[in-house]
Amino acid sequence: MTQPTITLTQEQIDSFRRDGYLVLPPITTPEELAQLRTIYDRLFAERVGRAEGNQFDLAGADGDDEVATLPQILGPARYAPEINDFLFKANGRAIADQLLGGKSDGGDHAILKPARYGSETPWHQDEAYWNPDLDYASLSIWMPLQDATIESGCMQFVPRSHLRGVQPHHPIKNDPRIHGLEADSVDADEIVPCPIPAGAVTIHHCRTLHYAGPNLSDEPRRAYIQVMGLPTKKREETRDFYWQRIQQTARLARKKAAEATKEE
Ligand code: NI
Repeated sequence: MTQPTITLTQEQIDSFRRDGYLVLPPITTPEELAQLRTIYDRLFAERVGRAEGNQFDLAGADGDDEVATLPQILGPARYAPEINDFLFKANGRAIADQLLGGKSDGGDHAILKPARYGSETPWHQDEAYWNPDLDYASLSIWMPLQDATIESGCMQFVPRSHLRGVQPHHPIKNDPRIHGLEADSVDADEIVPCPIPAGAVTIHHCRTLHYAGPNLSDEPRRAYIQVMGLPTKKREETRDFYWQRIQQTARLARKKAAEATKEE
């Protein structure tokens, strides 16, 4: 197994716990990044996972004949298992274990903003997508495969927003066919954009409000995200994430159809 090469300082751990996000220098090598870009572009070009609902448009209605402006793949390493031996994965795990204070486990996803027309990822908290009956200790490690600038859609955060609960959300454009969620309101005074070079990472807690702008640059903005967490617990207090109940996405229909075929 690939061994991690990164150990966080106590100052970095304290900073993450205080602000709900952290920026780190590259956790991988230029050679590995070049390899990963090739794999990444192939997975999107081949539309892997689409039939089972694991590739879809985060920002649109996601019909088969529509151009995706924010294509996403859930679990890209399922379709290219060699990724699991890459250094950035070992470093991601080591970073998550330190920040969460325990042995973490998780998955990954890939969000592509195509050059010039990749759409924005609206303000949201990741936990708004998840099961309201569970308690999460979880974070995301977001790594661009090329330099990420404000113009190309780098991450932006609201510091300390992870200390609040999950805020009300709605589907993008209030369209229940769209998978992507948007927080109902965000205080614009508090925003911190985090442009980073290729292979560097931003890390955010699952309740930290975050955003990435549209890609106005001439290069695709490829992001590879590791989502890591400690085991979930059943919540004592119930929550109603009503925005999930109104959603009817093409992705979910494909996922259900694929599962039904498997059961037959
Ligand atoms: Ni997110």
